[in-house]
Amino acid sequence: MIILKSPRELEILRDANKIVAETHNFLAEQIVDGITTADIDRLGEEYILKLGAIPSFKGYQGYPASICISVNEEVVHGIPSKKKVIKEGDLVSLDIGAYYEGFHGDAARSYGAGQISEEASRLLKAAEGAFFAGIKKALVGNRLSDISYEIQQYAESHGFSVVRDYVGHGIGREMHESPQIPNFGPPNRGPRLKAGMTLAIEPMLNAGTFHVKTLADGWTVVTADGKLSAHYENTIAITEDGPEILSLL
Ligand code: MF3
Ligand code: CO
Repeated sequence: MIILKSPRELEILRDANKIVAETHNFLAEQIVDGITTADIDRLGEEYILKLGAIPSFKGYQGYPASICISVNEEVVHGIPSKKKVIKEGDLVSLDIGAYYEGFHGDAARSYGAGQISEEASRLLKAAEGAFFAGIKKALVGNRLSDISYEIQQYAESHGFSVVRDYVGHGIGREMHESPQIPNFGPPNRGPRLKAGMTLAIEPMLNAGTFHVKTLADGWTVVTADGKLSAHYENTIAITEDGPEILSLL
């Protein structure tokens, strides 16, 4: 069942996602040569708490940190570590969730540490572009997979592959609500979009194969071929006037 949100509930989701967006903007400045991913996690957690929210991910199914930090060939769910030092040229994906007044905000972005390679830069821009191509179809009356289809078309026409094993999701009082939102597949499938749906749309693009594997820590997902991966996610609301992006300031 897809839970539609009332105008009042949307207000709170706006607030929760604003906290996520502000935390992204703050952490984007911290991604420099020499910082550890544990430092980024601690700074992010402190910032979320300072804004009056709680990190959504901490303790979620046993996840041990507040921010998911996935570097280079890591796709999603990288665990922050004191031993993991960011160096110039790294592609760093941050996934941030904040729980505020009973609702979750969720957004991910990939950032370059200093100067990054031409390919990394194209990949990171393509992940963002795929999200925006997808939400052009996030219109009342369209079907859910119209979004999925556009994301895949955009990604593949830019020479990148789309991860199959992880998908976007509805979001609200729970971080993961129905429906699941694949970033691939044929159009004109799935439920019709209605005003009041709130969705986290999150393409993960790989430079090589779309195949991924999970490391022995049980969380960190990496590309099967060791090539780069980028992630771009926003929480959006479906409205009669088109999609509203809640997690972008
Ligand atoms: N943002 C991720 C998602 O959309 C959640 C991170 S998984 C967690 O599914 F366990 F770290 F919370
Ligand atoms: Co998400």
